[in-house]
Amino acid sequence: MVFAFKAAVVGAGTMGGEIAQVVASAGLPVVLKDVDQRFVDQGLEKAREVTQGQLGGLVGKGKSDQAQADAQLAEITGRITGTTEYEGFGDVDFAIEAVPERMEIKQQVFSELDEVTPGHAILASNTSSLSITEMGEATSRPDRVVGFHFFYPASMMRLIEVIYGEDTSEETVQAAANFAQQIRKQAIRCGEVPGFVVNRILNSAVTEIWRQQDEHGLDPKEIDKVIQESKAAPMGPFFLADLLGLDTVLHVAEHLEESYGDRFFVSPAMKELVEAGNLGQKTGKGFYEHN
Ligand SMILES: NC(=O)c1ccc[n+]([C@@H]2O[C@H](COP(=O)([O-])OP(=O)(O)OC[C@H]3O[C@@H](n4cnc5c(N)ncnc54)[C@H](O)[C@@H]3O)[C@@H](O)[C@H]2O)c1
Repeated sequence: MVFAFKAAVVGAGTMGGEIAQVVASAGLPVVLKDVDQRFVDQGLEKAREVTQGQLGGLVGKGKSDQAQADAQLAEITGRITGTTEYEGFGDVDFAIEAVPERMEIKQQVFSELDEVTPGHAILASNTSSLSITEMGEATSRPDRVVGFHFFYPASMMRLIEVIYGEDTSEETVQAAANFAQQIRKQAIRCGEVPGFVVNRILNSAVTEIWRQQDEHGLDPKEIDKVIQESKAAPMGPFFLADLLGLDTVLHVAEHLEESYGDRFFVSPAMKELVEAGNLGQKTGKGFYEHN
């Protein structure tokens, strides 16, 4: 298979709604599934907001007019169908899983996807760090299971890591790279190592900030302020972690520390917040309060 004609996204959280938006704005129909209608609706709303923002930008620059933008908004959002069952998965070519970063949940979803999608469909994971090989083991088609790692926010970030597990076929890796191109992203291929490429680089930098914060009892907001004011980054690392979801960021940090030792550091302050159920923007509280 060279190009996909219909896609699916499982998990309509921080990443899922935007991933569906990326696919729909590239002209493909996509079905978006979550466990609860409330989450499906949030994902659909996210996709609508992002599309509206992008189209509004074009109107603002005089590249489009409002009537055109309204028609395009309806067209793009009309390509996304929400479901809490696996309705509409029977003719999917490319499915992307974006459920929480826990292997038992991923494997459950992969085994379900294996049942409900046609045999030729590629089953991809947006995992930030987990083993693609282990996800493939939950299916009857491990050769068609591949990592397809978007970056936050998926609607803006161009890069996708295409990760091959031990059983992923070359044909699948190529089809995933083609699909990335079809949805206007740039793919890089990488092997199944903890943190893949990007998170290993990003975390090796941020780990030093987390370590300093902890060892010297610094205020995360003060650190963010200095970094932002210095223009070293568009926002500080603690605010960014809140946006990404502290459970996800913590999981990646723990996985990197387990894998590479004290080259990486797990922030105790972040761990405490996660244990208290404060996961950042998605729960309204993390290092910051969010409306
Ligand atoms: N947040 C980020 O910045 C980021 C960036 C890149 C990759 N990722 C990866 O993407 C994946 C999702 O992360 P997220 O931040 O969007 O998580 P999230 O917690 O914001 O959303 C996960 C969604 O999955 C849903 N879900 C749980 N079990 C499900 C099931 N069995 N079937 C369908 N939906 C189910 C939840 O209800 C929730 O809406 C993770 O693997 C994460 O590592 C996250």
